[in-house]
Amino acid sequence: MQFSIKTVAAILTAITNIATVSADGADGAIASPDSAVVKLTEETFHDFIASNPYVLAEFFAPWCGHCKKLGPEFASAADTLVSKNPDIKLAQIDCTEERDLCAGFEIRGYPTMKIFKGDVESVSDYAGQRQADGIVNYMVKLTLPAVQSFDEAKILDSKLEDLAESLILQILPNGAENLPSNETFYKVADRLRESFTFGSTSDESYVSKYVKGSSPAYVIFRKGESIDDASVYKGKEIDEVGELLYDFIDVESKPLFGEINGQTYQSYTAANIPLAYYFYNTQEERDAADPFIKKLGRKYRGEINFVGLDASQYGMHAQNLNMQEEFPLFVIHDLEANKKYGMDQSTALDNNDISQFVQKFKAGKLEPIVKSEPIPESQNSTLYHLVGAEHDAIVKSNKDVFVKYFAPWCGHCKKLAPIFEELSSLYEGKDVIIAEVDHTLNDVEGVDIKGYPTLVLFPADGSDPIYYDNERSLEAMADFIKENGSLGIDILTEVEEEEVAPVSSVESSTTESATSATGAAKQGKAVTAEKKEEAHDEL
Ligand SMILES: *[C@@H]1O[C@H](CO)[C@@H](O)[C@H](O)[C@H]1NC(C)=O
Ligand SMILES: *[C@@H]1O[C@H](CO)[C@@H](O)[C@H](O)[C@H]1NC(C)=O
Ligand SMILES: *[C@@H]1O[C@H](CO)[C@@H](O)[C@H](O)[C@H]1NC(C)=O
Repeated sequence: MQFSIKTVAAILTAITNIATVSADGADGAIASPDSAVVKLTEETFHDFIASNPYVLAEFFAPWCGHCKKLGPEFASAADTLVSKNPDIKLAQIDCTEERDLCAGFEIRGYPTMKIFKGDVESVSDYAGQRQADGIVNYMVKLTLPAVQSFDEAKILDSKLEDLAESLILQILPNGAENLPSNETFYKVADRLRESFTFGSTSDESYVSKYVKGSSPAYVIFRKGESIDDASVYKGKEIDEVGELLYDFIDVESKPLFGEINGQTYQSYTAANIPLAYYFYNTQEERDAADPFIKKLGRKYRGEINFVGLDASQYGMHAQNLNMQEEFPLFVIHDLEANKKYGMDQSTALDNNDISQFVQKFKAGKLEPIVKSEPIPESQNSTLYHLVGAEHDAIVKSNKDVFVKYFAPWCGHCKKLAPIFEELSSLYEGKDVIIAEVDHTLNDVEGVDIKGYPTLVLFPADGSDPIYYDNERSLEAMADFIKENGSLGIDILTEVEEEEVAPVSSVESSTTESATSATGAAKQGKAVTAEKKEEAHDEL
């Protein structure tokens, strides 16, 4: 149930992009021929990849703003690497010239950076920073083992004093050789090596401090925090899949009071525990809240993540959390239930009150802010105008209820609107409700909305909702309601029969709507027959 999360991620990313575009530099997408960057073409590409163990390839277009900004950094990184690690090569592919090559790698945006390890098949996305030293560090790290062995406690001690990034340490007691969990740890380290440093030690001082019993211990030392704040794994034994280890890292690698933005959003939503936001106007404001929130971060570590959000950049996000755009504000988003709990905005936010608010949240003593349009006084159309406040009652009525969740700005929703209206008219007087929900104005629970429109049938017998994933034509939807609704109401057969022999005026009026229904059905077909990629839902 992560609909709003994805929407929000999209919003945040969009905002980040806008911000970076406007801060765009002037020139220099194409690295100078004097630099160590190698220009690759269709002819040279494959040989070059095959003959170098590590290649960072930038697919770009000379006109693209981000490429211009990256260009000089990329060239400077390439030059540094010549002396630092000559096994690593940086290359550029101009996609305005090498169209086929770029199409082959499904390049969709510029610049796209990919890492090749000696083979065109062995390719992964570059996920590091775009400054020269960021590129260098990221690439050099790739050439190092995924897990560093710390045989000497002294080296580890000094490393922990000043971490360049969070360190995840496996501590193996004596006799813990060749455990399957060790393999798992190495596998996880290889997957996440780009975000963290991984280490392993059997040093006695660490064993006695962290290991209980005979199983290995796992400890996360977070960058910029005291060693005493390190998180120690307390779950079940690590299995081969490593799910528990991934979860542990997801949750515990977060700073006590982190920062949320386009880059970090995903990792916070992946942790899937409540996310508490402090929206701030200025850095001073954030600093003033820091001690209050860090304390909470420590207390509720693993239960709630605490983040700051720069309202001057992402203030709009308040709307997604059902809050007014008045800052500073404090709001907790329970991601799992998709419920939002905000501190009263009618008075100024007092940092002293935050702790008590969080306590009440943990105790389940807060009411979520539910977004809903007012319940309409009357329904004026066969298409039921459903709102958040009434949603659960209606979908749990003893009728088959077919609901369209839409957003006003969504093009596919607009195309579907007349067909849906028509569909609703066919069920007039039957035990089927055809309804629509403007999801931008109404919160709903228990529906997995990943795009607009999302169509869902709630069978009358109360069984699980069924998601509609078929052609958006009137006939196909009516078929679906007949087959998957628990009342089996069949509108199409009735309509067809009547079309053959209309008898009374009442019936011929049904026929009339049936004729136009067929028209709408055709129209529906035409809509879905349009370019396949356009049929993707929008978010
Ligand atoms: C843990 O696994 C790695 C990678 O397979 C291996 O090199 C290392 O020797 C193992 N360590 C122990 C103590 O078994
Ligand atoms: C129907 O019309 C009435 C009176 O104009 C209005 O109060 C009500 O909200 C309308 N209902 C819908 C679903 O638009
Ligand atoms: C009924 O629902 C199932 C499961 O979603 C789907 O595969 C099937 O196509 C539906 N039936 C019709 C007639 O759409």
